[in-house]
Amino acid sequence: MINVAIDGPAGAGKSTISKGAAKELGFIYVDTGALYRTIALSAVRNGIIDDKDAVIKMLESIDVKLGFENGTQCVYLNGEEVSAYIRTPEISMGASKVSAIPKVREFLLDLQRDIAKNNNVIMDGRDIGTVVLPKAECKIFLTASAECRAQRRYKELIEKGENVKYEDVLSDVNERDYNDSHREIAPLKPSEESVIADTSELTLDESIALIVKIIKEHM
Ligand code: DC
Repeated sequence: MINVAIDGPAGAGKSTISKGAAKELGFIYVDTGALYRTIALSAVRNGIIDDKDAVIKMLESIDVKLGFENGTQCVYLNGEEVSAYIRTPEISMGASKVSAIPKVREFLLDLQRDIAKNNNVIMDGRDIGTVVLPKAECKIFLTASAECRAQRRYKELIEKGENVKYEDVLSDVNERDYNDSHREIAPLKPSEESVIADTSELTLDESIALIVKIIKEHM
């Protein structure tokens, strides 16, 4: 099986680029952030998102599964397909909280590794090359400048009709980068073997072509 690990900061286009590359190569695309979001959804529904011990206790009684329908990933919480409920700002914030709990990361480890054992995958996250799939054939650290990621995010928000200032979006991006790369557990950083791919100056198609080329060089 070919395992490709794609890590990098929020807003670098990991999921869109990984999805495009997976389609071209016939690989399964695994979005691991969705798993942390599913745990967060369960914690929010139970009203315990800010109670670390209760979240850890909750892990004993929940069932999280990944499925694939027509190549699209779905996540299941206790058998319920919850993909439609995990993309809200509340759940993004919650996912960031639960992902800092070591027991939560441990809980999701086997699930991620099992998929990679049985399939050709492109798996995206923050610690895939460093922790989840340290033996991946190909490791890519996908990034773009903070200004560029902030600019993309700013454009998205303006298009949604939200009233935001570019400077505020940029300072959010910088703050999140700092938090992600300085947390104690599984901090965001390239592994030693990672190929660094900077998409600041690339279009989406160019970014996908670059990733596909890097993967083919490692197959
Ligand atoms: O990629 P995303 O925005 O869907 O991720 C949601 C949250 O989960 C984000 O705060 C980072 C965290 N995460 C993580 O810690 N490790 C991963 N492998 C994937 C996501």
